[in-house]
Amino acid sequence: MIPITVCNHKGGTGKTTTTLMVSAALGLSGRRVLAVDLDPQGFLSRLTGTGEPPAERSSHAIFDDGVDFDRTSIVPLPAFDLLPSSSRLSSAIRRLNRPVDVLWVREFSARHLADYDFVLYDTAAAVTVYSLNALVASRMVVIPVLPEYQPVVGAEQTWQTAATVRKRLNPDLQEAVFLLTMVDGRKKEHRAFGHYLRERYGDSVMPSVVRTSASLAATRQDGLTAFDYDPRGRGAVDYANVVDGLLRRVERSIPAEASVES
Ligand SMILES: Nc1ncnc2c1ncn2[C@@H]1O[C@H](COP(=O)(O)OP(=O)(O)O)[C@@H](O)[C@H]1O
Ligand SMILES: [Mg+2]
Repeated sequence: MIPITVCNHKGGTGKTTTTLMVSAALGLSGRRVLAVDLDPQGFLSRLTGTGEPPAERSSHAIFDDGVDFDRTSIVPLPAFDLLPSSSRLSSAIRRLNRPVDVLWVREFSARHLADYDFVLYDTAAAVTVYSLNALVASRMVVIPVLPEYQPVVGAEQTWQTAATVRKRLNPDLQEAVFLLTMVDGRKKEHRAFGHYLRERYGDSVMPSVVRTSASLAATRQDGLTAFDYDPRGRGAVDYANVVDGLLRRVERSIPAEASVES
């Protein structure tokens, strides 16, 4: 099982869209994929039309010792499975304040999710106990970044957070990779920030970028993605390339587990 955290401390940079499209692409290529919505606002759950389940049937159950996790809480979507979020995650933050509270996701995934090929964690736009839990449980981190000032600052802070988690809590975590999203090649600012990130972080910036695309901005609620309703559009093509790149990285860094047939 290869766990991947999708995070950027800044909002609106394409985290949820990336989680959705990468999960779908991996699922459509025959991998068993689970997306876990760790954002208390639950946009991934909404975007897939899943809605909000009772807290004990949501990702909140991961952080609740009193709940016996019921696997039927996992929602099967056309291309991948989803563990939806609950707004209860917001209030639960207050009690998750012990140092060991960063270990819930790691323990839960070892116990319940070992039969998935990939588990993707979608996180909220802040450093919370949930994003730390995801990083502590992950092998890879993808930082979607819109090439503009604030998202780039957020992305660099996220990079630092991931490096700290690797050093202190999770030596299995690979160096984070930046994914440029919502790129508009006509904008000077986008070219400049793209150039800045590549100069500074080299190989850690994915070669493929995700351009702005109407099919990615569309909100559907049927669990389908741009791969289904606009497979030749930019959104599907760009994310297919991104997933090829991610799989190559997995093969380089985690060879034994990457040999899933596509
Ligand atoms: N490549 C893209 N082109 C156009 N719109 C996009 C693209 N990626 C995401 N969006 C839209 O931008 C908004 C923010 O994206 P989202 O994935 O929700 O970001 P985050 O999860 O980081 O807050 C959403 O309305 C989404 O539909
Ligand atoms: Mg989001």
